[in-house]
Amino acid sequence: MSDSLLRYRAEFPILERTNYMISNSLGAMPRGVYDALHGYAETWATRGVRAWEENWWMLALEVGNELGGLMNAPKDSVSVHQNVTTCQAVVASCFDFTGKRNKVVYSDMNFPSVMYFWEAQQHYGARVHMVKTDDGITVPIDRLLDAIDEHTLLVPISHVIFRSAYINDAKAIIDKAHKVGAHVVLDTFQSLGTVPVDVAALNVDFACGGVLKWLCGGPGVAYLYVRPDLGKKLEPKLTGWFAHRNPFGFEVGPVQYAEPPFRFMNGTSHIPSLEAARPGLKIISEVGVEKIREKSKHQTARLIALADQHGWRVNTPRDAEKRGGTVSIDMPDSQQVCRDLLAREILVDWRPKAGVRFSPHFYNTDEEIDAAIAAVEEILNQRRRIAV
Ligand SMILES: Cc1ncc(COP(=O)(O)O)c(C=O)c1O
Repeated sequence: MSDSLLRYRAEFPILERTNYMISNSLGAMPRGVYDALHGYAETWATRGVRAWEENWWMLALEVGNELGGLMNAPKDSVSVHQNVTTCQAVVASCFDFTGKRNKVVYSDMNFPSVMYFWEAQQHYGARVHMVKTDDGITVPIDRLLDAIDEHTLLVPISHVIFRSAYINDAKAIIDKAHKVGAHVVLDTFQSLGTVPVDVAALNVDFACGGVLKWLCGGPGVAYLYVRPDLGKKLEPKLTGWFAHRNPFGFEVGPVQYAEPPFRFMNGTSHIPSLEAARPGLKIISEVGVEKIREKSKHQTARLIALADQHGWRVNTPRDAEKRGGTVSIDMPDSQQVCRDLLAREILVDWRPKAGVRFSPHFYNTDEEIDAAIAAVEEILNQRRRIAV
């Protein structure tokens, strides 16, 4: 396979120094972020408060549209926030949990922060129905679909599971939810940027995620897509002056909602993070998620084949169509192995019930995959020698 994507390596300084295989956690920083943040400081230093009118007020809209372009979202349907948990809160605040339709269905393979948020909504009348995994890798789709019934209000669900990289059957979940009048909040944090996401084709109600992993956008920016027909009528109670149709009127009394995406925002936006996110988004859209996905399938298959050769447990689906960008490998002493890999400048992470997570991105070489696995073998051999 010819690897034209490797020409982007020069854009990511950390690749010169490390074997960077942790884009499921924090994508490598694009060189362009130095300029972006310098530009932000220059604007603040030289334009002062005029920066709001000249650049900053509309930045949220612009970055939202750049993100929307990556998921086939219509213009002005994506608002930006600080993190995914806040996006869930904005969605929750559009609904009432005191009626009969108050059930919230999700899988225990969701990211914990999202579960903590929904568990806490029981205080406001939400009834949580959590479907448990059978194998720690997949989500039992039949039981999940069965749980979505006419009392279900919302289904907050991960598109790709953070622990195992299992790809949920988003279409089946959305179709079932719509059949019974429920809404789906698809968490695309572990998919957008490495697995294609098409919110229009999925007809999903809400989609949210952050930019710091596969989008190489750094911490501090999350996105919330709201399907335009819902965007016109929903009224988030988590609101503020950015959501007001005339924010500079400083009117007293209830909010008069603006059009999306500002309608789903609340207070002052996080300008430095938005500026820092742009170089990564530009590169990802230039490379194209289809190409990234093709390479990712190849490299994750390579990781699985190597793990199999050593007889290590793979906690990730073997079917490439059901597997996102990460391979979780639970070799003996995996937590310590992870620490030893980090000490050798091989950047990976470890998660309970997963093992060491290897997450190659478009900028990784096949040789780096082989080197990471060879290092694991060496570490385990060393540990065996010490134990004898
Ligand atoms: C699927 C998924 N959702 C959410 C999060 C994080 O949520 P937040 O942006 O609220 O920190 C992560 C990982 O950090 C994740 O993997």
